[in-house]
Amino acid sequence: MRDRFDRVIDYARLSITDRCNLRCVYCMPEEGVAKLDHGEVLSFDEIVRVAESLARLGVTRLKVTGGEPLVRKGAADLVRMLKSIDGIASVTLTTNGILLPSFAPALRDAGLDGVNISLDTLDPERYRRLTRLGSVDEALRGLEAALAHFDSVKINCVPMDGVLDIAPIASLARDRNVHVRFIELMPMGEGAIFTPVKRDDVSAALESAFGPLTPCPPPRGNGPARYSSLPGFTGRVGFIDTADHTICSSCNRVRLTADGVLKTCLHMDRGVSLRSLLREHDGTGLDDAVAEAIQNKPAHHQFALRNVAGSELRRMSEIGG
Ligand code: 5AD
Ligand code: SF4
Repeated sequence: MRDRFDRVIDYARLSITDRCNLRCVYCMPEEGVAKLDHGEVLSFDEIVRVAESLARLGVTRLKVTGGEPLVRKGAADLVRMLKSIDGIASVTLTTNGILLPSFAPALRDAGLDGVNISLDTLDPERYRRLTRLGSVDEALRGLEAALAHFDSVKINCVPMDGVLDIAPIASLARDRNVHVRFIELMPMGEGAIFTPVKRDDVSAALESAFGPLTPCPPPRGNGPARYSSLPGFTGRVGFIDTADHTICSSCNRVRLTADGVLKTCLHMDRGVSLRSLLREHDGTGLDDAVAEAIQNKPAHHQFALRNVAGSELRRMSEIGG
């Protein structure tokens, strides 16, 4: 459907857990976060009912997110359920990759269309420092498992140490059919204390390492990334700039949190809790509630104004990126 700013909403990100097997510095505090109780988290059946409602309203693509979605038992079963919904053309998953070697076959069998892997550095020590718990070798084994099982593989990199990691991470796209996207750090939650690396600095680092960037169409999907090719590269590089409002005017998405809030802007506390509708009213009025939330999607986020009324206080791990 279209919202009141005439944006077509055809994409939804579904967070299926707030838990994670890593503790990335911009996402979670070291000690972890107060976890949702089991009863607060939507069941797979409830998630599917929301997804069916979204599909009736014109959503065609779903992304399963977390926390880390693969720590929730049966994630592949949910993928299979989502794939069978009328009107859903693609279901993809975003993951830190650590558990992919064991789950990639089941996910492919369930019909998953592609994966996005979060990988911010190839340097073992920096990976350990940024994720607090992870090993880059495990993440890279996850990448290889993804490439062996899926046609569409993307890497999401949030540069954290100036431009140090840009060229090494981009080089993953040289010989592999994988697209590497550089995401500007969003100054929210745990991320608020770090300084984002600027888009121009990312481009300059790429051009000095590999030659000129040539803008090109996106490989698939129509998200906020702008893509370029590099000489001799198999995959493309993409840029997701978040600080200004340029991405908001073409924003095509809504988000469902693990506890059942349909969020219409990543950065604002705008949306509607669907859980009680599902549980106490047997889903009556679900389509209306979802449609009304989409109608009220804000025009743009308000990063520039810190702590404005309505700005988001949840952590990224609770929202799913
Ligand atoms: N800014 C930008 N990206 C973030 N992610 C988590 N926190 C932030 C932040 N503050 C990213 C992860 C992952 C995706 C789901 O969200 O790196 O790629
Ligand atoms: Fe986990 Fe992703 Fe958050 Fe890292 S960014 S702690 S992998 S949810």
